[in-house]
Amino acid sequence: MEIQLLLEGVYRHYGFDFREYAPASLKRRLYRRMLSEGLSTISALQERVLHDPQCMERLLLDLSINVTAMFRDPTFYMAFREKAVPLLRTYPFTRIWVAGCSTGEEVYSLAILLEEEGLYERTRIYATDINQTVIEQARAGVFPLDKMQDYTRNYIKAGGKRAFSEYYTARYGGALFARSLLDNVVFAQHNLVSDRGFNEFQAIVCRNVMIYFDRSLQNKVLELFHGSLVMFGILGLGHKESLKFSAFEDQYAELVGEERLYRRTA
Ligand SMILES: C[S@@+](CC[C@H](N)C(=O)[O-])C[C@H]1O[C@@H](n2cnc3c(N)ncnc32)[C@H](O)[C@@H]1O
Repeated sequence: MEIQLLLEGVYRHYGFDFREYAPASLKRRLYRRMLSEGLSTISALQERVLHDPQCMERLLLDLSINVTAMFRDPTFYMAFREKAVPLLRTYPFTRIWVAGCSTGEEVYSLAILLEEEGLYERTRIYATDINQTVIEQARAGVFPLDKMQDYTRNYIKAGGKRAFSEYYTARYGGALFARSLLDNVVFAQHNLVSDRGFNEFQAIVCRNVMIYFDRSLQNKVLELFHGSLVMFGILGLGHKESLKFSAFEDQYAELVGEERLYRRTA
């Protein structure tokens, strides 16, 4: 009950709605935050969160698990290159929504892929996340140098066509990605639970975000995507996510089933 009250308070006071996030991982994260704040009850955490916006910021970072990587699940990017790109080519201009973009690795990966396929110039990527801090990191585009070996391997497995090192320079103690990759990217804070759709997209990529939501919240977000996707538009989910058993199963066809790439058909 204390957890429910805390989540209700956070929602009413700050508008962040975690009430339908999957309970097990939520509980773990709230307890971790409670201990880090030196508190012994969830009610005490509620009190602090409601009176101290900085504590809310810290909690937000805890709850919005930001783990990501460039060309994460390379087979997804390979499938996107082979099956989604030819469909996107049929449009004179393409708008892609990357929802829950975290620190931006996924956005840079897509920009690189589209660049190599000659599509980037006529694409606009809208990259959103609930968390303003990660969006700022995404804009900066500096990623740890020691990750570059892994990312190079992913890039090659994803069908990359150049030398991965062409896209970054060592700077600021990290790998600074080419600024031109952001020419057609718009970053914005957006909450999938409480904000509306804001455009009509030819493709929506939302990977490893809905795993943290319960079934009813997943359906709510899928409804938002459905209303934001053109007919025959493409939807890309994470490997552990699926439209199977969702309220939208019948409105999509599998483009590449095992990669969770779908196409809207109704
Ligand atoms: C695990 S990361 C996934 C990042 C990237 N899509 C990937 O697959 O590598 C999940 C992201 O979803 C964001 N997120 C969680 N709840 C959200 C919400 N209600 N609205 C928008 N973004 C949300 C988090 O802030 C986090 O950056």
